[in-house]
Amino acid sequence: MSRREKRAVSKFDPQLVAESFRLFDEGVKLMDIAAKLDKAHTTVIGWLDKYRDGDASIEGSTLRYGNRIYDLDDVEQEVPLTEDTPKGEWLNDEMGAMEQAAKRFPAYREQVVENDRPDVRPQWTGDDDPAELWRMAEKKNERAVTKAIHRSKFDVKLGNDPVGICFVSDQHISAQNSVCLKRMREDAELIASTDGLFACLGGDGVDNHVKHRSALLAARSTPGDQWLLYEYYMGLFAHKILAMISGNHDAWTEGFAGLDMVNWIAKKNRICYAPAEAHLNVDVGGCDYLISFRHQYRMNSSFNETHAVKQWLRHGDTPFDVGCVCHHHTPAMEECLIMGEHRIFCRPGSYQITSSHSRQYGYNLTTPTCPTVVFYPGERRLVGFYSVQDAAKWLKIELGK
Ligand SMILES: [Fe+2]
Ligand SMILES: [Fe+2]
Repeated sequence: MSRREKRAVSKFDPQLVAESFRLFDEGVKLMDIAAKLDKAHTTVIGWLDKYRDGDASIEGSTLRYGNRIYDLDDVEQEVPLTEDTPKGEWLNDEMGAMEQAAKRFPAYREQVVENDRPDVRPQWTGDDDPAELWRMAEKKNERAVTKAIHRSKFDVKLGNDPVGICFVSDQHISAQNSVCLKRMREDAELIASTDGLFACLGGDGVDNHVKHRSALLAARSTPGDQWLLYEYYMGLFAHKILAMISGNHDAWTEGFAGLDMVNWIAKKNRICYAPAEAHLNVDVGGCDYLISFRHQYRMNSSFNETHAVKQWLRHGDTPFDVGCVCHHHTPAMEECLIMGEHRIFCRPGSYQITSSHSRQYGYNLTTPTCPTVVFYPGERRLVGFYSVQDAAKWLKIELGK
């Protein structure tokens, strides 16, 4: 059968077309119009597109459709499609005809017995508008992209005198364990009481064993008790903490329960927080310093503990002056001239001197060492200290106190 013959078979029903326009004007949704008229939705889209574009209209009992005019009172009227019928319209009518033919197929009729159905009516008959859904998702995602770019960056102004910034990490707070709580408290009190001395918290604040069954059984305090102690500890020097990040032990709670406890505690203590890593633009007396710290990084070396920190500078997206990577519990401090600038790379120790994990895998006992860097105003100058106690003494001398 040629295309021209096919066109002659397809029929254009002006009554249905006019009804689709009326329903559309009443606000009925496209899919509901198609269902009411028992036509394929693609057919109805074609009609309504024409109506919306002004190429079709109803005036009284007259339907104008393209260059054709129909008298709607003449119900017997059947007008075969003509040569000037647009190609798209012919296709829509053909699809409608195919859909109707499919419904007459025995296999279809066995599945769908029209008169043997219970009376089930949906309370919600509106369709979700994909275009509207896309617009909403696009707007939300734009915000998520901006947040992802800026969430870990903070601007800090620290006055016009020399300041010390200390990296405190891997407290692994838990009771009845080999964790130096006394030293942890003393360090927090030292930072709180020393003028110009501030802290960055590098994650793993609590032991929080909820992931590994053996560690969970060996724990002598519950995660709930540990978070309570952590909150008390944070209260000792919250006003001197510039920012804090989360570690892998913190992330377990989020992974299992979707709850970021560090974020929650940081908000409660009005401390800036970012998960996993943070970058601080620090202004000391008009001199800008870029400080980056994160809990973990790739390319670690047991032979060269600061290797991962230097690789972060090399492969990362922030040319920091001072970089710190936590997590390994092995303290280290190194100063280098890289890309023409004096830079400091460090790793904190841990207040958890040992654990069943470190014993089992042959790691040495460690020390609660908090590397600290003193920054000077006016001109770019850095002095690194392996421990916060020495840095505090130096700072007091520099400030004449
Ligand atoms: Fe740790
Ligand atoms: Fe860790």
